[in-house]
Amino acid sequence: MASSACIAATCSSWTVSCRQPRGSSRLKTQPRPFRALTSCTSSCSVSLAALSSSPESPSRSSVDTSLWKRDELHSALLNFGRTEFRARSGSKLVLAMAAEMKTVLVTGAGGRTGQIAYKKLEKMSDQFIARGLVRSEESKSKVGGGDSIFVGDVTKPETLKEAFSGIDALIILTSAVPKMKPGFDPTKGGRPEFYYEEGGFPEQVDWLGQKAQIDAAKEAGVKQIVLVGSMGGTNDNHPLNALGNGKILIWKRKAEKYLSEAGLPYTIIRAGGLQDKDGGIRELLLGADDALLSTDTKAVARADVAEVAIQALLNEEAKNKALDLASKPEGEGTPTTDFKAFFSQCTATF
Ligand SMILES: NC(=O)c1ccc[n+]([C@@H]2O[C@H](COP(=O)([O-])OP(=O)(O)OC[C@H]3O[C@@H](n4cnc5c(N)ncnc54)[C@H](OP(=O)(O)O)[C@@H]3O)[C@@H](O)[C@H]2O)c1
Repeated sequence: MASSACIAATCSSWTVSCRQPRGSSRLKTQPRPFRALTSCTSSCSVSLAALSSSPESPSRSSVDTSLWKRDELHSALLNFGRTEFRARSGSKLVLAMAAEMKTVLVTGAGGRTGQIAYKKLEKMSDQFIARGLVRSEESKSKVGGGDSIFVGDVTKPETLKEAFSGIDALIILTSAVPKMKPGFDPTKGGRPEFYYEEGGFPEQVDWLGQKAQIDAAKEAGVKQIVLVGSMGGTNDNHPLNALGNGKILIWKRKAEKYLSEAGLPYTIIRAGGLQDKDGGIRELLLGADDALLSTDTKAVARADVAEVAIQALLNEEAKNKALDLASKPEGEGTPTTDFKAFFSQCTATF
């Protein structure tokens, strides 16, 4: 067989060898590093060998996963769907898992919640292939700056195509960001004034920009969309709408409505006031129609919002639901771990 020499030479990585289609007189046994796989033509049959310290019976724990090019493996499995994959016993499990992995795009991946969601997905690399969309090179550097991060502007639909191509699910974490007008002096009392930058008004980012993402996702054949929005949308006179005269919650709600009628599985998460605190240590609260806003528990950690967005991809009970999200203070109640039960409490579809 092709690659025993190369196995020794490339220990702890994937090795790929391509050969000519059946009937070809010459067996091409040129070993390729896995990175080259996507450049193979569809006439190749591909055999993969997972290498480890125990090549005959590699197990997941004995393979150095940091060297895997999962994104490439996944696209290879898609591209070579009809071709033959061979793997040594023990690595079949890994290949099967790769075939089932979802490619998930997080938009707003350079934002505060977006960064957490993207990095969580990256860590869950046995289930997800993480992609991010950011607006600038500066934001790209906040999430590692790798090939999985695409630069695009949701107000310019033509810039989204590449990032959306081939994804299975989308987590929308973009938002218009109000800026404080310079010159505010808190020692003098009064309230700061806010404005939105040209091109960054909520109508453009939260309505048209989210609509563009939903449309791009539909066109790309996406199977599920999770949209992170905000509580407060039932009240047109909510103070956030006055910020920079942007009517941000009104435009966000319009996008939520659009998603709920788009005809593909969705989850709308309307978060309470976001906090930069650790996640996974509080009991999460699920509500509807802004009822949580009239309680003392209307805040939630960004890390918990990111987790709930990801869990929505893993639990059928989250599909076609809209929920308000807050949490009890740390130390009160029991930290939420059973997300199937959590989403099952939700009956609202918008
Ligand atoms: N702040 C709160 O207390 C609160 C409360 C409830 C709900 N929420 C909602 O929760 C979500 C996450 O909030 P967050 O505070 O974590 O977000 P954030 O840090 O404000 O991030 C928003 C992201 O959207 C990106 N973005 C803006 N315009 C864009 C455009 N035209 N094209 C592409 N990307 C664009 C920004 O990109 P750049 O990195 O380039 O700026 C930024 O990364 C938002 O939907 C927010 O409205 C917030």
